[in-house]
Amino acid sequence: MPSANFTIDPAFTIAPVNRRTFGTFVEHMGRCVYTGIYEPGHATADEDGFRKDVLELTRELGVSVVRYPGGNFVSGYRWEDGVGPREGRPRRLDLAWHSVETNEFGLDEFIRWCAKAGVEPMMAINLGTRGVQEALDLQEYANHPGGTALSDLREQHGASPYGIKLWCLGNEMDGPWQIGHKTAEEYGRVAAETARAMRMIEPGLQLVACGSSSSAMPTFGTWEQTVLRETYDFVEYISCHAYYGNDDGDTASFLGSAVNMDRFIDAVVATADAVGAELKSTKKIDISFDEWNVWYGARSRRTDEDPDGWAVAPRRIEDEYNVTDAVVVGNLLISLLRHSDRVGVACIAQLANVIAPIMTERGGPAWRQPTFHPFAITSRLAAGQVLHVETNSPTVSTAKYGDITAVDAVATYDEGKLSVFLVNRSTEGPIEVTVDVSRAGVTSVLESQLIHDEDGLATNSADQPDRVTPQPAEAQLEDGKLTITLPAVSWAALSLG
Ligand code: AHR
Repeated sequence: MPSANFTIDPAFTIAPVNRRTFGTFVEHMGRCVYTGIYEPGHATADEDGFRKDVLELTRELGVSVVRYPGGNFVSGYRWEDGVGPREGRPRRLDLAWHSVETNEFGLDEFIRWCAKAGVEPMMAINLGTRGVQEALDLQEYANHPGGTALSDLREQHGASPYGIKLWCLGNEMDGPWQIGHKTAEEYGRVAAETARAMRMIEPGLQLVACGSSSSAMPTFGTWEQTVLRETYDFVEYISCHAYYGNDDGDTASFLGSAVNMDRFIDAVVATADAVGAELKSTKKIDISFDEWNVWYGARSRRTDEDPDGWAVAPRRIEDEYNVTDAVVVGNLLISLLRHSDRVGVACIAQLANVIAPIMTERGGPAWRQPTFHPFAITSRLAAGQVLHVETNSPTVSTAKYGDITAVDAVATYDEGKLSVFLVNRSTEGPIEVTVDVSRAGVTSVLESQLIHDEDGLATNSADQPDRVTPQPAEAQLEDGKLTITLPAVSWAALSLG
């Protein structure tokens, strides 16, 4: 059997584990909000109409921060439509997803939902059809303590200040599909002016400028450079978005998706630091990887045809994930964790039904997709400091990324407790992995979790919600040497103490 090895040393720290790595995203798209997190009349609905089964799964997923309300949706959104008494709220066309938005759920409901889910809100503002004034109005409504028209309006709606710290200055403004799409120069100016004005109200906000919607965009690189030259002094983060699929059947490259994520992050960090050097700034701009996931264009089969158009909450891109997708998601989390020194926020997109770890049926059950598990386990076990890991591993040839290591890994260390996250990206067969953990002083395996199935296409459904679940991994720890056999296409997490 081929073998791989590496050494873990608690002295080789990268950065503390950042809880905001475990963020997610709720967009007004398809059934993410309606019949996803919100469904009055559902058997589990609470007094606000929030599905308690989904709230429970959200807590189990270990989510820290939730981005809202889009996505492409936000670029045509009027936030005022979604506050105050529900009776007066207008129905609007949603051009981004060709549907009708009822506005039954809006900012006021989202903040209440966040409190119940125990997550931090991350609010996106519309810089597509709107600008500085509307952003300031939203901020005044959401965060100002009182004594002004909009903060008093919020009080009339029965709410204390929302205290939203983290804000996205628009969404994917580099994409020609975006409502109000802009050139980098146009966007850089409006983002800088919006950020500058928002800081006049609250200097301590944390603001995210839009980076590229994918590293494959023709403007990737120059977009970040131009936008950051305008916004450098006014923002903390530049965003990255990436979706990986296997539509072309190139499974080797698909399993290597984390290599693309690694390179994407490294390139954006290098660009941001180059702009910082040019501006003679000592400040560092970090990354908000605020949309990432597996997303199959061709496998988005559970999408309503919507022949009449303009439906309310039609099915949109309800990808059904399999074990192989879960292994890729686990590996993408390894990539995000090892970049904890520069990735300050990350959001798996989205939370419910729309390319999501949680699926629901209207009036029916909620269940976990296979991708739910690596996320929930990593969020639960990653703690303390992220440690640098260099694997000696056989390689796999990929058409998109060249030769890559079959085994990829990262570790975290917290007061005598070591967590190791590993993946075997080879389709050929098992690999025996030996890890020297003697410097961590750990003596026993407290927990081991393996995601693998002989059928790489195995999936979960309403009828078989637990077809794919984590199984205990066979791992031994003796004399400071940890050994584990990773089957082909598998992801594992180990907790040692
Ligand atoms: O998450 C689905 C969509 O993907 C988002 O609305 C958009 O920002 C991205 O292109």
